[in-house]
Amino acid sequence: MAQQPLLNGNTPVSVKVKPADISGSEGLIREMLKKHKTPFMLIRKGTLEKQFNRFRKAFPEVTPYYAIKANPHPKIVKFFAELGASFDVASAAEMKLVLKQGVKPSRIIFANTIKSKEDLVTARRRRVRLMTFDNEPELYKIAESYPGAHVLLRIRVANRGSVVQLSLKFGAEPDQAVYLLRKAQNLGLAPKGVSFHVGSQSTNVENYLQALEITANIFKEAKENDMPLQIVDLGGGFPIQHFDNEIGINFERMAAQIRKQMKTLFSKNVKFIAEPGRFFVGPAGVLVVQVIGRAFRDNKNFYYLNDGVYQDFSGMVFDHCKYEFKTLRRGQKYMSALAGPTCDSLDTLSTNEELPELFVGDVIYVKNIGAYSCASAVANFNGFEPAKIILV
Ligand SMILES: Cc1ncc(COP(=O)(O)O)c(C=O)c1O
Repeated sequence: MAQQPLLNGNTPVSVKVKPADISGSEGLIREMLKKHKTPFMLIRKGTLEKQFNRFRKAFPEVTPYYAIKANPHPKIVKFFAELGASFDVASAAEMKLVLKQGVKPSRIIFANTIKSKEDLVTARRRRVRLMTFDNEPELYKIAESYPGAHVLLRIRVANRGSVVQLSLKFGAEPDQAVYLLRKAQNLGLAPKGVSFHVGSQSTNVENYLQALEITANIFKEAKENDMPLQIVDLGGGFPIQHFDNEIGINFERMAAQIRKQMKTLFSKNVKFIAEPGRFFVGPAGVLVVQVIGRAFRDNKNFYYLNDGVYQDFSGMVFDHCKYEFKTLRRGQKYMSALAGPTCDSLDTLSTNEELPELFVGDVIYVKNIGAYSCASAVANFNGFEPAKIILV
């Protein structure tokens, strides 16, 4: 294809020319471009394993239940199953997917506080006994559909500074905790403990420290009421870096503070679990797309890509996520815009990206996009399919 001439009129924004990144991602992307059509998402198994091991090392006494909603690709689930992870599922469909990978029901938590009766019946039939709840009507439903189920009460905790707020929709008030746990017991269920979620991409460790303190008070009150509890579920929220030069995210430091709080507040026989989603799979994903068209509007180059907010950039809407767009091309950078392929203006990814001039066929890639991206992509809107997922 003939290269189009450089467009005049847009102002250069930087004169720095970076050397080609022939290391890691770009070498791999070039290799994969020889074999696969774009858009595709590479999921690096080495990074999945690295994240899993980082979590295990930082929290040796916490059993991680991978929240598959972050990325439910069966090969990712299988990979984590082989590493020894347990799983958090939000529905019967997710439950079946995990069980199909050979995971034992005892390694699954049904961590959606609102469950349909049908899904509860599936949980009973498949022997997925551990689940969360946060309200009384749910308890009646669980008791009817799954007598004897083991329940954790999800409490409402501060989500200060978290990118995705979850306490707007979930969590019982802590002062109701013992009442609700007792209610569970009276209905023939087994109250096992407390769970919380500090909101996704939570860089504020105080959320966890405070939630643990509230949880410890509930444990104390429950014990005084002859209802000893055993399980603390730390939920998810563990943050990742999305941009190369992002500062202020230090998982290991956060984990050390959380762990110290766990040791201070709880006795040795308390069992800790967690439900990391983003932390396990986000850093492993590299999305590779191509420019399919370009225009000059609003004094800048607009590049139209073969993937957009309805597909693998859906996290920009649902996950409030921002990404770092990179290209294989080097050179003078200009303020540019990026848009997805559909006939909708909402499908605009950025109107202020510093990019070298790009041509039809050029590649754009985004790292750290493994979580809440393809998981919430719509199939076939305007006839565009989400990226193919390739584990490498
Ligand atoms: C109940 C529950 N557990 C775990 C997660 C995973 O959270 P994260 O990806 O922030 O680790 C979520 C995310 O929404 C959730 O709702």
